[in-house]
Amino acid sequence: MRLDGGVEDRPEPFELTDGQVVVRPWRPEDAGWVTDACQDTGIQRWTTVPSPYTRADAEWFVGELAPSAWADGTALHGAVVDPGSGEGLGSVALGFHAPVPGVGEAGYWTAPNRRRRGVASAALDLVVEWGFGEAGLHRVELLIDPRNAASRAVALQSGFVSEGVLRRRGTLRGVVHDVEVFAVLRP
Ligand SMILES: CC(C)(COP(=O)(O)OP(=O)(O)OC[C@H]1O[C@@H](n2cnc3c(N)ncnc32)[C@H](O)[C@@H]1OP(=O)(O)O)[C@@H](O)C(=O)NCCC(=O)NCCS
Repeated sequence: MRLDGGVEDRPEPFELTDGQVVVRPWRPEDAGWVTDACQDTGIQRWTTVPSPYTRADAEWFVGELAPSAWADGTALHGAVVDPGSGEGLGSVALGFHAPVPGVGEAGYWTAPNRRRRGVASAALDLVVEWGFGEAGLHRVELLIDPRNAASRAVALQSGFVSEGVLRRRGTLRGVVHDVEVFAVLRP
């Protein structure tokens, strides 16, 4: 099934793995660890999650936003979990249907106590591969605040190329900031 020409069918459930991490659909029971992880100042500083972040925010995310985006054919929102224990490690997303056909946009966070172990870059690699295959994308972008050194490092680790800085292009929590565009192209 290809999704690049529009939403022909509801996508099949996904489960992506490289043996190091599993990316699977969010489940109601994930709300607890998502709530804990999203208390992190880094996640609140660099992503669009609500701040302060409550259990109700997590329940809405895993129970409503993520499944409806998948059903609508607009985005894959995945829980990143340990393949053996099933422990929650992080979050990854790939918007694959808007605003430019064939161009996806990815995002991610890793639970604070599971960082610097390759979780984000592994999850990003998996959704990019899925995007180039199942979703028929030819380009995936990351829009990163240039001050976010960790996220820039993840992008470079996963083969993204910096294409430049759009000055004052973003606004987060009412504060205007620069946006660095990273992209990877389908081989
Ligand atoms: C950015 C973030 C997702 C990185 O997650 P992670 O799982 O620790 O990243 P990885 O372990 O896959 O790291 C990939 C590469 O980036 C490097 N890296 C990770 N964090 C880094 C940091 N704080 N400073 C410098 N390099 C860093 C790693 O060393 C690794 O490269 P290397 O192992 O070859 O040296 C995590 O710090 C986070 O959740 N931050 C808050 C949310 C956020 O910024 N999301 C992105 C918004 S654009």
